[in-house]
Amino acid sequence: MEYQTLIFEKKENYAIVTLNRPDKLNALNKQMFDDLNDVITKVQLSPDIKALILTGSGEKAFAAGADIKELNACDKYSGKLFSEYGSVVMQRLSELKIPVIAAVNGFALGGGCELTLACHIRFASENAKFGQPEVNLGIIPGYGGTQRLPRIVGLSKAMEMIIAGNPIDAQEAYRCGLVNAVFPLNELLQKTEEFVKSFLAKGTIAVSAAVDCLLASQNLSIMEGLSYESKLFGEVCGTEDFKEGTTAFLEKRKANFKGN
Ligand code: COA
Repeated sequence: MEYQTLIFEKKENYAIVTLNRPDKLNALNKQMFDDLNDVITKVQLSPDIKALILTGSGEKAFAAGADIKELNACDKYSGKLFSEYGSVVMQRLSELKIPVIAAVNGFALGGGCELTLACHIRFASENAKFGQPEVNLGIIPGYGGTQRLPRIVGLSKAMEMIIAGNPIDAQEAYRCGLVNAVFPLNELLQKTEEFVKSFLAKGTIAVSAAVDCLLASQNLSIMEGLSYESKLFGEVCGTEDFKEGTTAFLEKRKANFKGN
C-alpha cells in the first residue's frame, strides 16, 4: 500500500518507515498519524516483520513536531482530541512486541521527539537535535513527552528540557541517556540496519519475549514483573530455538535459529 506521508519498506525480516514530508521537516499532521496507525496494524499482522526502524526523509529532520498549522486551529475541546489521537498512535507503536528503533537524522522536536520516545531504542546522527519546545508555543507536550521523557532521562533533565524548551544536541542526548549511540549522518541508517541484523540473527522468539518483558517492567510491580518474566521464560523453553541454542552451545557450534 502507498502512503501519502510515509514510505514503508519491507526488508527480509524487518521494515523501515520513513516519515516523508521533507518540505515541512516531516511535521506530524493528521494524515501522518493515520498512516502510522495503519503501518502499526500491518506490522502487528505480519509475523515475518521482526523489527521496525523509523527515520525521516531528507538530511535536516526526523520530525520537527506536530503540524503547527493544524495545531493552530485547536480550541480547549479539539486540543484534547488532538493530543489523544497522537498519544494513542504512539502508545500502539511503543507496545509493539518487536524492537522499534528510531534512526534520528536531524531535528526531533516536540511531537518528533515524542515519537522517538515511543520507540524502544534511539540512534542519532551527529547533526540531530532533540527538544520539547512546546512552551514557546504556549502549550505543553501532548504526545507523551511529560510521561516518557522523565522515565528515560530522569525527572530533573526532563523538567529542564520541557520548562526551558531549549533543544539539546546529539552528544548531550547521548550523555543523558536519551540516545544509545551517535553516528555520522551518512552512516546512520546503515549502522542501524547492521544493529537490527545482528540481533535478528539470534533467536527471534527470545528477542521478542525479552521486549515483551522489558516493556512490562515499565507498568508492573517488581513481583508482578518477575512473575511475568518466569511465565515467558517457561514459554521460550518450549521452543525449537531454545533446544537449538542450548544444544549448539554444548556441541561447540554456531546455533542455527529458525524462529520457531
Ligand atoms: N509544523 C508545521 N510546519 C513546520 C513545522 C511544524 N512543526 N516545522 C517546520 N515546518 C515548516 C515550516 O513552516 C517551513 O514551511 P514553509 O517552507 O512552507 O514556510 C518548512 O517546514 C521549513 O521550516 P523552516 O522553519 O523554514 O526551517 P528552518 O531551518 O529555518 O528552522 C526549525 C527549522 C526546526 C528550527 C523550525 O522549523 C522550527 O522551529 N519548527 C517548529 C518546531 C516546534 O516548535 N515544534 C513543536 C511543535 S508542537
